Amino acid sequence: MATPFATVNQTLARERAASVQASTRVPYHVAIIMDGNGRWARKRNLPRIAGHKAGTDNLRRILRASVELGIKVLTLYAFSTENWRRPQEEVNGLMGILEMVIERELDELDRNGVQIRHIGRLDRVPQGLQLKIKSAIERTKHNDKLILNVALNYGGRAEIVDAVRAMVAEGLSADYIDEDTISRYLYTCGLPDPDLIIRTSGEYRTSNFLIWQGAYSEYYVTETYWPDFDENELRKAIEHFNKRDRRFGGLSQ
Ligand code: IPE
Ligand code: IPE
Ligand code: MG
Repeated sequence: MATPFATVNQTLARERAASVQASTRVPYHVAIIMDGNGRWARKRNLPRIAGHKAGTDNLRRILRASVELGIKVLTLYAFSTENWRRPQEEVNGLMGILEMVIERELDELDRNGVQIRHIGRLDRVPQGLQLKIKSAIERTKHNDKLILNVALNYGGRAEIVDAVRAMVAEGLSADYIDEDTISRYLYTCGLPDPDLIIRTSGEYRTSNFLIWQGAYSEYYVTETYWPDFDENELRKAIEHFNKRDRRFGGLSQ
């Protein structure tokens, strides 16, 4: 349980981290809402699932670029708690593609020092994919070059519900619950909040992604569909991030 002293220390550490990040060219934690696969496919008269396939093929170049750029945490929104509303055929196809992608990319990710994590609820995810995710997490848990957080069956509201349930189950006293406590009970426990949240395909909404953690993230929206979002687009997003004046409610330095 958090003591007030620990809470003060954590707040200081967070402020220090924020000020270091402000003077660094590359954001420490980048999160991406990988949107636009369906429209990418429609533009080419292809089925939506071909867009998802192209989207997952794009992961390799973005991961390589992220490691090269020195991004430390990359959180990718792969499937939301609301995406179950899509036709069964699309959901099944997508789950199959994700399973195949882990199988195909795991060796290279491991070699490049990528630590794989999962955020979200695994319960509804097909058994085969669950096993692949768990074994990828286990195999890469000592890697430290880049943390890859895969948000799969993730919803920001569900995450807060899960945090509240856990706090109640552990009998946490109301006196000790502050913002740091809640942060520690989220799936992203121990990770700094995202500095930059990128959304592809031109939509200006969070779609339930990192709604707590993104309170002071810089948002960047590009019209480019996710399968076409390449390393240059990533650099462009980071350049924009560098021009932002992050005030965190205070005044400019
Ligand atoms: C993002 O692409 C991938 C997932 C949500 C799984 P979409 O499938 O949402 O693509 P659009 O928005 O229909 O173009
Ligand atoms: C958000 O995209 C979820 C992912 C990218 C995984 P959606 O396509 O599901 O979002 P909405 O429906 O346009 O808000
Ligand atoms: Mg979409």
